[in-house]
Amino acid sequence: MTNTPKTIALDGPAASGKSTVGSRVADALNYLFFDTGVMYRAVTWTALQHGLDLLDEAAVAKLTEETPIDVRPASQDDGRACDVLVENEDITWQTRRPEVDANVSTVAAYAGVRAALSQQQRRIGLRGSVVMVGRDIGTVVLPEAELKIYLDASAEERARRRYDEIIARGELADYAEILEKVIQRDHIDSTRDVAPLRPAEDAIILDSDHLDANQVFEKIMALCK
Ligand code: DC
Repeated sequence: MTNTPKTIALDGPAASGKSTVGSRVADALNYLFFDTGVMYRAVTWTALQHGLDLLDEAAVAKLTEETPIDVRPASQDDGRACDVLVENEDITWQTRRPEVDANVSTVAAYAGVRAALSQQQRRIGLRGSVVMVGRDIGTVVLPEAELKIYLDASAEERARRRYDEIIARGELADYAEILEKVIQRDHIDSTRDVAPLRPAEDAIILDSDHLDANQVFEKIMALCK
């Protein structure tokens, strides 16, 4: 597949299915799958652990610059897409905790945090053979990516998918509450001053409201050819 794009940027709002489809595409192409959201989550978890005031932008940015975050291929078959390590401690599942969900958009809006993390992401992306997933990959991190996809879906559909996932794990979920959080995060992510969530001008927009995960995968693979 000599014409296969070497760098694939996959952006879109929370719960649009980017990570699921991105990791499948990466597997199929034998590329690195890199979900950049885990880095913002790792910083948020570490700041909470250090008892930082998350509204103190300077303190959170300083912590980001001083904290080495390592994202590696999954070492365990427990549903994780990758390992997330901070100072050699595996914090993969801590980054999915509700307190991280509730605070990560605030942390991701800070310019100093974004500058530090985008730089690390760009370095990895420039090596090529990568599917990089996030909010600003096509616009800021890798504007030269050979294929840019913006995976969209309505807030209602994304909330329904999150709800189904939680129920499938045997846990309790409240659809209205999930929908409210999805809308809230969309608002913060798309109205922030630095690198707001939006499709790059040359991105291909895929609306997945009426597509299942297999169909989205097939469409992206077709775009890679
Ligand atoms: O995709 P996710 O839910 O793991 O992302 C967590 C947060 O990080 C979310 O608020 C958006 C933000 N994020 C970002 O601003 N830029 C990225 N490239 C990836 C994630």
